[in-house]
Formats: sequence, structure tokens, C-alpha cells
Amino acid sequence: MPEASPKFFLTTPIYYVNARPHIGHAYTTIVADVLKRRHRLLGDDPYFLTGTDEHGQKIERSALAAGIPPQQFADQVSKEFRTLWDRMGLKYDQFIRTTDPAHKRGVQKFFAELQARGHIYLSSYTGQYCVSEEIFVEGPPGTIGPDGRPTETVTEENYFFRLSNFQLPLLDLIECDTLLIRPLSRKNEILSFLRGNIAAAGNAVNADTNRSVPTFAPSAKDDVSDEVRPIQDARIAYSALGNAYVPGALRDLSISRSSFSWGIPVPEDEKHVIYVWLDALANYMTAVGYGDDSAEAQAKFARFWPADLHIVGKEITRQHCIYWPAFLLAAGLPLPKAVVAHGWLLFEESKMSKSKGNIVRTETILDAFGTEVYAKQFPDSTKHEQDLFAADVLRYFLLREISFGQDGSFSFDALITRYNADLANGYGNLVSRTLAMIYKYSNCEIPESPRDQTLSEMLESLEASLRKLSAISNTQTAKGDYDFNSVRSLVEVTPLVFSDLIDRFDYSTALTVSLMMVSTVDQMLTAIGPWKINQEHELGSRVVAQLLYTAAESIRIITALLYPTLPYATAVVWQQLGLGSIEAAAARGELNNLQWGGLKPGTKLGPLSPIFPRADKGLAQIMTAMEQKQQEKQKPTPSKLVDEAFNTSPVTPDDPTDPAAAPRTGTFTEPSPGLQVAGSNAETTERHGTPSHHEAHPSGIFSSSQAAGPADASPPPSVQIAIDDFAKIELRVAKILVAERIPKADKLLRLEVDLGYEKRQILSGIAQWYTPEELIGRRIVVITNLAPRKMRGLESHGMLLAASSGEDTKPILATFGESDEILLGSRLK
Ligand code: ME8
Ligand code: MG
Repeated sequence: MPEASPKFFLTTPIYYVNARPHIGHAYTTIVADVLKRRHRLLGDDPYFLTGTDEHGQKIERSALAAGIPPQQFADQVSKEFRTLWDRMGLKYDQFIRTTDPAHKRGVQKFFAELQARGHIYLSSYTGQYCVSEEIFVEGPPGTIGPDGRPTETVTEENYFFRLSNFQLPLLDLIECDTLLIRPLSRKNEILSFLRGNIAAAGNAVNADTNRSVPTFAPSAKDDVSDEVRPIQDARIAYSALGNAYVPGALRDLSISRSSFSWGIPVPEDEKHVIYVWLDALANYMTAVGYGDDSAEAQAKFARFWPADLHIVGKEITRQHCIYWPAFLLAAGLPLPKAVVAHGWLLFEESKMSKSKGNIVRTETILDAFGTEVYAKQFPDSTKHEQDLFAADVLRYFLLREISFGQDGSFSFDALITRYNADLANGYGNLVSRTLAMIYKYSNCEIPESPRDQTLSEMLESLEASLRKLSAISNTQTAKGDYDFNSVRSLVEVTPLVFSDLIDRFDYSTALTVSLMMVSTVDQMLTAIGPWKINQEHELGSRVVAQLLYTAAESIRIITALLYPTLPYATAVVWQQLGLGSIEAAAARGELNNLQWGGLKPGTKLGPLSPIFPRADKGLAQIMTAMEQKQQEKQKPTPSKLVDEAFNTSPVTPDDPTDPAAAPRTGTFTEPSPGLQVAGSNAETTERHGTPSHHEAHPSGIFSSSQAAGPADASPPPSVQIAIDDFAKIELRVAKILVAERIPKADKLLRLEVDLGYEKRQILSGIAQWYTPEELIGRRIVVITNLAPRKMRGLESHGMLLAASSGEDTKPILATFGESDEILLGSRLK
């Protein structure tokens, strides 16, 4: 690309490495790849950035659960993303990882810059934290987070970002599309969040005073940062475009964490790590040189920043449209030009996500279409060719089937149906039949057509020739009146409409329109039937030549339009048309010049072969079985369930610097009998819909040696943990105040326990071993910092500690006697 081409810097989110890639991630990355190719053919110099988000508590916990250090864990999963994108032929220009040293330096510089400009202060905060989304959520303890699980109560001294200062600047920039947010529904959602509750505030003020109220100025006092301002203080003010908002509705944002360490340290205060979203969002700049003083990096930054387009899923719009632009404004840096948020891929009615376990892996589609469809037709094809073919199928499906911006359901049946209808029987069939006729009737060369004719002139002359032909030959009479109007209008408008729709991110309609052009040209061939025309006759041969030229030239145009969506298949068609490399054509700007007549008569066709072999309906079963097999493999082992239920892993990562540390990779694929938590029963039944492996050890007890047989046998080797990990588990003395059975739950007892400083409800699966009466008054040990969870509609907050000598034997509660001088709530250490 010559330097003079305008750059187009586009990004995907950087994906968390706690989950393997699925077709949801592929969707966003495909959209970015399509746009990159489109911008390249428009003559821009696109730069496509993707990567992985590797810090934060969620990743730390996943690594602990896998029994490996977080860096090693991140290395593995990040690699999986890259391997998959490469398999799919996704042409990103850069893959950033937030554990890259250059990124870390950039983030620290960014933080320091915000600090130096006075936008950061230190304060204490208690809130509900949703670990899987890495965000604070409003609400009381036990509030359910966006992931459907109870949030955790977190109290920390944190650094805060004065987000509240940016309410009006953001409103102004977004209202006038300086920061463009699409679709409009997302823009409106962001605006209404920024404006606050105008109705409530409006009732509290006299309308006449509205306009004189200044915009909210934050308190200089650091410790009254983020609390909701009382409603009676609320006033209404107006943005530059005259829209009402409630000053102060946007609250400051916590931007550091100190309860875990897997992150980028706050400069000069290593107790804290930088909030994972600040870390992650900054990738868009650090990738293009921010934070690096070298001349090369600075030139790169100057060229590429600001980003032209951030493509994201709709659940992270707020981070991209509020936090990110506010950080940039605070740092005095230019804002990205646009954020576009797509909807979710749903599978079995809900958002495809790892935590729900309802994912479809892209590999399944690549393997199935690659081997069952492509390799059957082309046994000598390479694995890479099969992958690229299958990737095209998925690209087309996702863009065509989902209205961009809205949620869309994925199913294997729909994938196969759409493939057969649009690609095998539609585009692929039109190409094959047209080129086969050119082979046969035109000596495998693009047929002659009158030079320098416009499409209209060409179709007029074709129409006239056809009429003449039917007049002189009685076999053609029926087709003499074929109306070329729909061919004419579709060929004329499709490229224009297509571009416009793509610019508006309406891929589905853009592809629908191209497919209409396919079927119209196809109908023309069928209706007139070149094979019925007597080509001995000069007029007959001219009609056939013009018809085939029209079809081939239409295919050239359609193929150029489809290239960004179907890069592999269109490359094959381009070769077959005798036009050489489509990539080279794209680079030369030839795919952007769709004037009628671009195809030169006499061009020799390339070797012909089917483009899209038909897919058998049975392929859906094959793919379903592949997914099931994969899920079997990934099914959590008992110890993994333990870990999930327990929510804080008892395993510490290897310390790579510790020569004594035994390699522990894979430890958790085996049950670890020394450390069985029985608490997972109700939870796993609820989540997976099947009884768990822990039938004998129902909810609410933490016991040891259950699977290991008698307690006096020497304990089996167990995973070693560091003292820090033990310190994470909060064990306290509690007294049972109330114990009662729960109707229709044979195993569960509902307990109320007194911790001295608070009373709690705990559900415990010990009903078959203990009567309520014998429990009341006992002083037991409770794990208190477990996230609350619901069982049978009741909240359980904590777990009892117990040990049992073997499977199906009574768990004995760890207790303190009456005479022990111990206060309720005392911590066991
Ligand atoms: O949010 N349907 O990472 P993430 C459609 N690390 N798109 C989906 C999808 C689905 N079911 N599931 C995932 C994060 N995606 C942060 C981002 S950016 C500075 C930090 C896609 O691993 C979609 O693009 O949860 C979504 O926004 C993204 O993956 C979330 O990936
Ligand atoms: Mg997510």
C-alpha cells in the first residue's frame, strides 16, 4: 500500500483467555476481517488489530483451577485463538496480548498520565463485584450479576477515576456523532445511561431554574467519590444539542484492585493492580506504539491513532463508549471515530457463553465442512484448503443470517440449509453452469460482445436479437419476449446498494441483494435456455454469446462484491473466470471498479471445478455428535466441580522460580481425593441439570478424605498450596441458632448461624446424618467468604466444615466445645 492511502485502523475486542474460542468470538473477528478486505479494495490502508485479554481475577482463578501459573495458562489459550484465526485465514495485522511487556509499560504510562492530570484519587469502596464480567454491579450483597451468578462483596481501597467529570463532554460528543455509535439502539442506550433518570430529577426542580444550573462539578473531597447523589440534589441541565440530563448521574469509577495480584501494578503503588478494563482498553493504543518512546513507535502511533472503528459485542458497549472515551479525554488524546456493537449469537435460546456451556466450536464446523463436504469432492485437497473453504461457509452464514446488531440463533440445520440454498444451489451453481456453457459453446473463452456498449445497450440488442430469432425459428417463439428489466436493474443497482448497505453495517441485506442478482441471472439463463438455441445460425450464436457474456460479467461483479465475505471461494471463481489472483486484483483497485464491460472477450477460462459441493442434511448430526464428544471431554471432573462450587481455588500455581515445585499440569483432571468439597451437589444439579458425582456428599459441608477411604490410611498426595491461598479462605467460629428441614429436599437443612458480627443462613446437605435438634446450639466452623448462592430458591451464604471417614459415612462437624474460650466470629488460622 502506498503511504498516501488513508489508513483505516479497526479492532476487535481482545478476548479473555479464560475460555476457549467459540463461534461468538469468531463472529466478531470475521466481521473485522471482512471490513479489512473491504477497505483494502476501496484503496484504504487497513490495519486490523485483535488479541487476548489476559489479566484479572477471572483469569487468575481459571489458572488456579487448571493448576498452572496464570502466564502459562494465558500462553496456552492465547495460542488457541491465534491457531484458530490462522486456520480460518483471518488476516489480522497484529495480535496483542495484555501480558506483552510493551503493553504493560503503555498501560502504566497511561495510568500515570491520568494521575498527573489529576483525574485519579484514592478512596475506599465496598461493592458487589461480578468476577466473570470483571465489573462492579449495583445492589445489595447477593445481587445477581450479569452472568446470572451471585456477585461477591468486595471492600477495597481503590484508585478512582473521575468519570463523573466527563458526563457532559461525552453526551455532547456522542449526541453529535463525533464519537459514532451504531446501531442507533446502542447509541440511545448509552445516551440514556449518561443522562440519568431525568423523570425523577425533573420532578424535584422548578422548571424555570433548569437552564441556569451549572453542570455538575465533582467534590474536591476524595472520599465522597462514587455514591449516588441524593435525588433532592438532582438538577436538570442541558447538553449542547439541548437534551436534558441529570448532572452527577455518572459516577466515578474504581480503576484498581488490591485483593489479587494478576494484573499490571499501579505505578509506584504495587499493592494495587490496574483495573482489567483500563488495562484491556488501552491495548488499542499500546498496540500502535503508545507508551514506547522509540521514533518508530511514535511514527506508528501518529499514523494509526485514533482508531477508526472498534467492533464489539453489545455487552461491552458501556466500556467502549463511556469509560474508554472518558479515559482518552482525560489523557488529552483523540477519541476513536466509531464503535459498532453487534448482537449475540444464541444457541439453544440463550447467549452462547462458556459459563453456560452452550457453545459451538468453530473447529467443529471447519472439520465437518472440510472433510465431509470439501474433501469428499476434492480428495487431494490439503487440510488448509479444506479449512479455508469451511471458513467461507461460516463467514457467509454469520453475516447473512444475523441482522447485524441484533441477536441471532445459531443451529447446524440452519447452517446447512443456508449453505445449500445460497452457495451450493445459488452462487456456486450459477458459476458452474455459466462457465460450463462457455466451455462448451465458446471454446472456453469469454464470448465476444459488442465493444463499448453499456449494459442497457447490450440488453437492448440482446432483446432485439432474441425477438428476431424467435420470429425466424419456431422453436424459440416462447422466449422471444423475455423481459430483461430485472436483470438490467439488478446489475445496475446492486453494486451501489451493496456498498451503501455495507457502510451501514447491514451485511445481511447486502448479501441478500447480491443473491437476488444471482437468482435473476440464473432465471434468465433457465428461461432463455442457450442450449435450445440453434447456434448454426449466425444470429443464434450471437444471442448465445451475448447471453453468456451477460452472465459471466454479472458473475464478475457479484464475485467482486462477495470477495470480502467469501475470500477463498471468490478467489477460485476469479481464477476460473481467467482473471488470475483476486488478491492482486483487490490490491490494484479492480474490485472497486464494477463498470459493465470489465470482462474482456477472449479471456481464457481457468480450469473448472465445483465451487460449493452440496452438503448432506446428515451433516448436522455429525456436527452435533462432534460437539457432544468435545463436551464430554471437557466435562468438569469432580475436583473441577469442587473448584467451581468453592469459587476460590485451593490450588496455587507453580512457582517457576521454585526448583522444588513439581510440575502440576493436569493435576486437576484427576480427582484430588485429599480435598473434596461436598458443597457442589445442589449447585451442579442446578447448573448442569444432571445429578453430580457427589450424591453421597450433599451441600454445605467441606470435608476431607471422602474418596480416600479410611482416615487413618496415609493421605494421598495432594496439590500443595501456598500460605496465601489458605489465607484466602475465611474460616470462622459460628453458633447454630436455627436448624430445620426444607420441604421436599431430603438432604438439606436450613441453618441460621451466628457469627457474632452477623447472622447468616446456610443450607447444608447433612439432613440424613443430623436431626435439627442435635445441631442447635453447637459451635461450628464456617467458611464465610464463599459467594452466596441459591439452592431451592433459598440463599445459602457459607459452608460448614466437616470430615468423613469414607464415602457414605457420616460427616463429623468440626466443632468447638461449650467450655472453649472462643468468641463467635473468631477466625481460624
Ligand atoms: O469482554 N455472540 O472478552 P470476552 C456474539 N476481554 N459475540 C460474542 C459472543 C456471542 N455469544 N460471545 C463472545 C471481553 N462474543 C473483554 C474485552 S476489549 C478491550 C476487552 C464476542 O472474551 C463479542 O465480540 O468476553 C464480545 O464482545 C466478545 O467476544 C467478548 O469477549
Ligand atoms: Mg464476555
